[in-house]
Amino acid sequence: MTAEHWDDRYAHPNYLFGYRPNDFLKDQARLLKPNSRVLCLGDGEGRNGVYLAKQGHRVVSLDFSRVALDKAEALAAEAGVEIETWHVDLAEWVDHPDPEEPWDAVVSIFVHLPPPLRRRVAEAATRQCAPGAKLVLEAYTPAQLSLGTGGPKDPDVLLKRDDVAADWQGWHLDVRLVERRIFEGMGHQGLSSVVQALGLRAAH
Ligand SMILES: C[S@@+](CC[C@H](N)C(=O)[O-])C[C@H]1O[C@@H](n2cnc3c(N)ncnc32)[C@H](O)[C@@H]1O
Repeated sequence: MTAEHWDDRYAHPNYLFGYRPNDFLKDQARLLKPNSRVLCLGDGEGRNGVYLAKQGHRVVSLDFSRVALDKAEALAAEAGVEIETWHVDLAEWVDHPDPEEPWDAVVSIFVHLPPPLRRRVAEAATRQCAPGAKLVLEAYTPAQLSLGTGGPKDPDVLLKRDDVAADWQGWHLDVRLVERRIFEGMGHQGLSSVVQALGLRAAH
């Protein structure tokens, strides 16, 4: 889907994926060290980035939908926290110079990309992470297609367990296939098949 498609979806006055953080991220956020610099990939309307900012982390919410990032900024203002928003296509971001300060954590929740781009994003994020950095990732699997409770219809962008290890090289990974009931806004409703990954960036 293009940025224009996402802008159209996010033009709805409600928050498509809700105001509350993703369940898996909320469960794992305690693993982040205090005051972490966190990159939230494809953060959309900011429910996850704002949650982490409320925990005292320094968050960059990256997305190619301007409409989504405007909503993310509004959500942050309402919560009385600040997030930095980066309006950029990940296909361009992968070629950006590395930031001065490495990331302490990378969050990727329901970001379903074409596999070649997905790999490049993982490589760029890995390069930009400090040793000991954390990865929190959740994405739909191909089994989600028959459940029909949310997520993309294109099987190519859905994640298999092995994809995570292939993409995120240089990390100690705990990857699980999980069926769980997801109620995260209008976009995600019901029994779902996901891959969940926790990563610890190995020393270079
Ligand atoms: C299913 S939404 C998930 C949003 C958010 N992570 C959440 O859980 O609420 C996927 C997000 O990825 C963003 N996205 C998809 N492809 C992208 C790309 N190439 N560059 C930047 N953002 C992208 C979309 O705009 C959208 O906000």
